[in-house]
Amino acid sequence: MVLIRDFIFWLSTKKKITDAVARHGMRFGFARRFIAGETLEEALAASGELTSAGRRVSLNHLGENVRTTAEAQRARDSYIEMARRLDAALLDGNVSIKLTQLGLDLHSNRCQSSVMAIVQRAESQGNFVRIDMEGSAHTERTLGLFRQVRGDSRAVGIVIQAYLYRSEADVRDLLRMGARIRLCKGAYKEPKEIAFPRKRQVNENYTKLMKMLLDSSYYHAIATHDPRMIEATIDYAAQQKIGKDAFEFQMLYGIRRDLQQQLVRDGYRLRIYIPYGTEWFPYFMRRLAERPANLFFVLKNVFRP
Ligand code: FDA
Repeated sequence: MVLIRDFIFWLSTKKKITDAVARHGMRFGFARRFIAGETLEEALAASGELTSAGRRVSLNHLGENVRTTAEAQRARDSYIEMARRLDAALLDGNVSIKLTQLGLDLHSNRCQSSVMAIVQRAESQGNFVRIDMEGSAHTERTLGLFRQVRGDSRAVGIVIQAYLYRSEADVRDLLRMGARIRLCKGAYKEPKEIAFPRKRQVNENYTKLMKMLLDSSYYHAIATHDPRMIEATIDYAAQQKIGKDAFEFQMLYGIRRDLQQQLVRDGYRLRIYIPYGTEWFPYFMRRLAERPANLFFVLKNVFRP
């Protein structure tokens, strides 16, 4: 399994292959399993369906590691427009952003101003912005920028990855400032020097951090499709008499729809992360790496007569 994961990460660096997959992905339809479409309109349509079915949503305009300031500015504008359209459509949804898409590696001050502009727009509508967490090369700077923006607005939250050794200390620190956290396992390829190498260890840390979040009395998000993590959360909340409205579960668009339905049926809050856009390839590859069986699903679609 580790070999297949490594192979998928390796594949994602081969330009000819990635270009071919990107060209065919939407046409063959396999990318649509995880991506709502290439336009904001398609993402809003998917949001409408999901919110009618009792879910909340968080929209992400796919893109990361931009190379020019102009690209970063376009990304900022697209998020401001997204917040405006969510509000106009009266959808129960917020915005998830990635800092490398807003130029973190190009100009960190400008990136911070862009984040602030998006957060202010969301706040003016009573809404909220989540800063996604990227690979470990960006962890420290992402947390630093988050702290700065959070100093000016409460309408922003952050993500913590349970696979990193540092995360327990980060959670303690973030809870001291009352930050709202989305807890996930972590989706990037990280070395064992900084991240738990075994799934069992990641799950143990996830459970530990989940308890810290639920004990804190701030509103957090438990983002996972793992039935064991979900059950542990439900059990702990019941044991501690923590209400179903004191936190929310989050899942990715197109994954474990059965579990999504069950949680909503059982009265839990559930938000679906909806990615859209033309730059879907890196996101798509992370979804393949999480579950290599998805690779066979893709190959079947590509080579179907
Ligand atoms: P795990 O990987 O153990 O999977 C549990 C079960 O879920 C599997 O057995 C399978 O049934 C199902 N499943 C999981 N992934 C699947 C897939 N790709 N296809 C089909 N089935 C799948 N990461 C990050 O580093 N930074 C971030 O900001 C975010 N943000 C984020 C938001 C939200 C709302 C979610 C749900 C997840 C993220 N992630 C993330 C991704 C996260 O770190 C993690 O990689 C995935 O959620 C997979 O981990 P699980 O907790 O689902 O468990």
